[in-house]
Amino acid sequence: MEELTINIPLLKKEEAELTPTEATLLQKAKQATYRSYSPYSHFSVGAAALLDDGTIVEGANQENSAYPSGLCAERTAVFYAGAQYPERAVTLLCVAARDTDGKFTARPIPPCGGCRQVLSETEDRQKQPMRIMLYGTDGIYFINTAKDLLPIHFDTTYFLQSTIHN
Ligand code: THU
Repeated sequence: MEELTINIPLLKKEEAELTPTEATLLQKAKQATYRSYSPYSHFSVGAAALLDDGTIVEGANQENSAYPSGLCAERTAVFYAGAQYPERAVTLLCVAARDTDGKFTARPIPPCGGCRQVLSETEDRQKQPMRIMLYGTDGIYFINTAKDLLPIHFDTTYFLQSTIHN
């Protein structure tokens, strides 16, 4: 038997330590929370994706009375980027959220499992890592690659290979 450990580097920055690009992206993610449609959870999430040509696309969570039909802010932004700019890579994705009190959360809100799977496959598709920037008023977390959010992930290459061989 062998016990293995996975270590994931996490960088924590204060708002004052952000680069101008990161600060701009944060501003966009915060603004996007005001376009959340979340009458059920009253939890407003905004995401801003920086593309490799400097374009920024934004998304916000969009809920629906048939609950599973809604979509998280991260996927809204990344799917929009894929639909509108399929040749561009997402290099940095920033997420911010306001809680039921309307205030930005103190702790960063980590993407849900479904979003992690989508972000991971987006990296495969674009053949380059996407940095993730999670905003909280107590600090901002940076993760180097979506893969770090989903260790031991389901890999598209397995799927494609098994599809081809079946
Ligand atoms: N939500 C996001 O948009 N992103 C996350 O990372 C976590 C959760 C949304 C889904 C739902 O609309 C609301 O927040 C409450 O879960």
